[in-house]
Amino acid sequence: MRRRLRPVLALALAIALLGVFAAGLAAVLDTPRPRPGASRAERLFVALCAECHGADGRGSWRATLFLIRPGDLTEPSRTGRESDQYLADVIRHGGAPLGRPGMPAFGAALKDEDIRELVTYLRELARAPGQSP
Ligand code: HEC
Repeated sequence: MRRRLRPVLALALAIALLGVFAAGLAAVLDTPRPRPGASRAERLFVALCAECHGADGRGSWRATLFLIRPGDLTEPSRTGRESDQYLADVIRHGGAPLGRPGMPAFGAALKDEDIRELVTYLRELARAPGQSP
């Protein structure tokens, strides 16, 4: 009896380990979700931009994995220096016209108002944590 049980137990253990591994992988690969009560701009950002830029704007590991270099949107010397018009143009037309081909265009998917709100949101991201508005 004991002898026959052993391979069954080993199989059960293997399946359980596989389950733990898959759950861990799913947790890591899961798309980031906006916080409850997030603003519309934050929800847009998480839904459309976080895939490459990361939920916090610092770049996602998935982008790194696919050799996409979205840079750090929270870097004040970068995003902080650009005009609202420039940021809106980058989002609307993508990076290609500006020689930054990695950044896709969202003009077809987003209304002008959404783009404006995203620009405001980018400004918030670019503020260093702890720095008052
Ligand atoms: C497919 C991946 C991808 C997605 C999705 C994406 N971006 Fe980007 N983005 C990039 C890459 C790559 C760059 C850097 C391009 C470069 O510097 O050559 C970039 C650059 C930028 C820049 C900086 C441009 C500059 O000159 O510094 C802004 C702002 C930006 N993205 C905003 C957004 C916003 C807002 C969204 C969502 C609406 C978004 N991105 C979605 C890949 C992405």
